[in-house]
Amino acid sequence: MAVTRTFSIIKPDATRRNLTGGVTKMLEDAGLRIVASRRIRMSEDQAKSFYEVHKDRPFYGELVDFMTSGPVVVQVLEGEDAVKRNRDIMGATNPAEAEEGTIRKTYAESIEANSVHGSDSDENAAKEISFFFTEDEIVG
Ligand code: CMP
Repeated sequence: MAVTRTFSIIKPDATRRNLTGGVTKMLEDAGLRIVASRRIRMSEDQAKSFYEVHKDRPFYGELVDFMTSGPVVVQVLEGEDAVKRNRDIMGATNPAEAEEGTIRKTYAESIEANSVHGSDSDENAAKEISFFFTEDEIVG
């Protein structure tokens, strides 16, 4: 299995509850390496652009408001089959449907305040990584 990269966000509900370390430990325990990490306050323009794919969904406005409501930690994760590995440890988008032992089952408050974002494909991972990081900021 090839070593690949994915993109992760620790969301405002998790940073607010001081869960940056807890989430990061679950990612690392799942075999993912944090090869870039930065704590930021996302601007409205950044959040709108990052989530543009959801712009016609009814929750888009609230999603943008939530993602700009507090600090987030943007990360690049590296590991074997990183996109799938990260999605497996994150669990289902809706924490009510997430399996035991996943990040969202353990920490998420709701479908919106669901603690983490992770890329859904290698193609989107590359786009999302380059949205926040330059190649020289990623140290494997
Ligand atoms: P994320 O992986 O960051 O991608 C889009 C986000 O929209 C998703 O996680 C959820 O947190 C958020 N969201 C809010 N409401 C909904 C909804 N009804 N269905 C799907 N995603 C939602």
